[in-house]
Amino acid sequence: MSEMVLYEKHGPVAVLTINNPPVNVFSPGVPEGIKAGLERGNADPEVKAFVLIGGGRSFIAGADVKTFNLPREQQPDMRGTIAKLEANPKPVVAAMHGNALGGGLEVAMGCHYRVASRALKVGQPEVKLGVIPGAGGTQRLPRVIPLQEALTMIVTGNPISAEKAHEFGLIDELIEGDLLEGAVQFAQRAGESGELPKIRDRDVKLDIPAHMFFNVATERVRKEARGLIAPLLCLEAVKGAVELPFDEGLQREGELFLQAQRSDQSRGLRHIFFAEREAAKINGVDRSVKPREIRSAGVLGAGTMGGGIAMNFANAGIPVTIYEANAENLERGLATIRRNYENTAKKGRLTLEQVEERMALIRGTLSFEDLADADYVIEAVFEDMNVKREVFGRLDAVCKPGAILASNTSTLDVNEIARATSRPEQVLGMHFFSPANVMKLLEIVRPDKVDDQTLVTSVQLAKTLGKVGVVVGVCDGFVGNRMINQYGREAQQMVEEGASPRQVDDAMHALGLPMGPFEMSDMAGLDIGYAIRQRQAQEAGREKSDTFMDRIVEAGRKGQKTGAGVYSYANGRTPEVDPVAEQIIQDSRAEKGVEPRELTQEEITKRLVYQLVNEGAKILEEGIAQRASDIDVIYVYGYGFPASRGGPMHYAETVGLENVLADIKEFHEQHGDTWKPAPLLERLVREGKTFRDALSAQPSAVS
Ligand code: NAI
Repeated sequence: MSEMVLYEKHGPVAVLTINNPPVNVFSPGVPEGIKAGLERGNADPEVKAFVLIGGGRSFIAGADVKTFNLPREQQPDMRGTIAKLEANPKPVVAAMHGNALGGGLEVAMGCHYRVASRALKVGQPEVKLGVIPGAGGTQRLPRVIPLQEALTMIVTGNPISAEKAHEFGLIDELIEGDLLEGAVQFAQRAGESGELPKIRDRDVKLDIPAHMFFNVATERVRKEARGLIAPLLCLEAVKGAVELPFDEGLQREGELFLQAQRSDQSRGLRHIFFAEREAAKINGVDRSVKPREIRSAGVLGAGTMGGGIAMNFANAGIPVTIYEANAENLERGLATIRRNYENTAKKGRLTLEQVEERMALIRGTLSFEDLADADYVIEAVFEDMNVKREVFGRLDAVCKPGAILASNTSTLDVNEIARATSRPEQVLGMHFFSPANVMKLLEIVRPDKVDDQTLVTSVQLAKTLGKVGVVVGVCDGFVGNRMINQYGREAQQMVEEGASPRQVDDAMHALGLPMGPFEMSDMAGLDIGYAIRQRQAQEAGREKSDTFMDRIVEAGRKGQKTGAGVYSYANGRTPEVDPVAEQIIQDSRAEKGVEPRELTQEEITKRLVYQLVNEGAKILEEGIAQRASDIDVIYVYGYGFPASRGGPMHYAETVGLENVLADIKEFHEQHGDTWKPAPLLERLVREGKTFRDALSAQPSAVS
């Protein structure tokens, strides 16, 4: 018998325990084990019923992600296993705890009965990977629970609690004490009754005519899908459950599954799914290095970023001390945090009691010494090297030995910051994105001297804080902002040539980004870019920078915060095309003698995205990013690049690197040096390779 499924007799009940730690995913070996267990119990006259249960932490948590990209024939036979369970001559009871998601729930629905412990989560999350449930989920779930609820679960991918599932009749009994014991008793009774209820034999219950139900549902799903096809295919499959006999519905589900699986969107979503997991691996660091436990934290600066960072700790239940130099700013910072929590409570996402619990974990102080005991300190003071150096020197003197000191700097050299301390091994960058309590991305910046345990601890901390941490090397702007600078400059260049900001932003909407470059800079504030351009102009020996963007800022328009920037914001945050800005743009072109020309959406899209790709290739070659997929994770979680496109580097591969390079070369000829092709890109195309083949150097070796 397969070791993946253990067989044990409890009186007249055969217990099949799935033994595929940690969460019993449906790997090769599991289906064979279940089938063998059923055969053994069926052949034993003493056995009257079966219990199928997961060993350890969970029931079958889902399909095995390692098999996701295999052709259907090579995947573990889930449909066959379910058919065997359902047709078994002796009753089978699924006993569930932990998670029963995706294939896990489908297997449970193939059993005759389902019992569960209260902490169980059940759901069909397949849509989140751009596919649909493929082993009968779309046919069985609507036959057990109300159609509307089933559709919502399948289309959104969101799980429900055991209690809800019990209320809906998906779970026959909630077991209070020991799950196995309760399940065996239940199975014994089922064995005596001899009944073999099958979900496939039930009808979908519907109070209104099906076409009316689906008319409304289609409109809703289409609207919420925002261009994604998997939710619509889910809907189609569920329709099959209502309109077709069971076996035909199952067949239809299979066809729709393949359609979804072969789509570029699903490829993109699966790419990001794997990329996110891969991002946790740190090149050159042994897997045996264990993270240190972080029991308390410190944050310096209660400004925009410091407040949000402190909230992350409080949300994770870690007490945090915020130090501020200025009493008024401290008070304002703490008040902002409280207001943020209260707003969340107003939306019903926190109770007032939880607001107080979180606030109680945050302590403000004006005394540096209060940071002495913190295990992990994150600095978010002004972006000025002298201030940072001074602060890190003081931190080093006050904080206990071994405490990790991190900077949230977005542009400064973290190596230099580390040198201001006597413990550069425990100093690194933790680059949060604004708003820090919301954005999931965290660039973990790896300076030369940082030790492995500090890195591993920081990657683990990112996870604890609910972030997606990506390790990057030291350079100006790290990965995300270094790339966005090229993208932003290209956006401005295209407006100089004749495109309107609206056209440029719309091209990115069409790609699926929630915001285009000008909407994004209006939100972030135009003064930051202005200051950088002026500094760069002076460094280059020019008197000043005088682009249309500079003129917009000089007209007092700094973006959303001043009510106007490239757009105007009479209605809060909705950008409106503004004649004043339009005029500034036209005047700027006229003075420079530019004859405006039409740019197509295709050109705009290529020039924006290929700037990202070209710079991404340079970053990869320099070892600033460990792998191309890390860059994709950064763009999806930090900059709103649609996950269904898999991030800019994956997108380039779907277009074909040779096609991307050909366009880049053409842009190079037309527009000069900002389009110099990345040598890595040229090499990969020459050798017929992909970004995945481009193994980069260690980030720490470069900086
Ligand atoms: P901010 O100006 O809103 O807040 C800085 C706070 O630090 C102020 O409250 C100030 O009183 C306090 N402060 C200044 N010197 C101090 C000192 N010596 N000791 C203690 N407190 C001191 O600035 P913001 O936007 O929060 O930025 C902070 C850091 O985060 C900067 O390094 C910035 O580059 C970085 N960052 C900012 C992002 C943003 O979108 N605002 C995004 C990512 C990083």
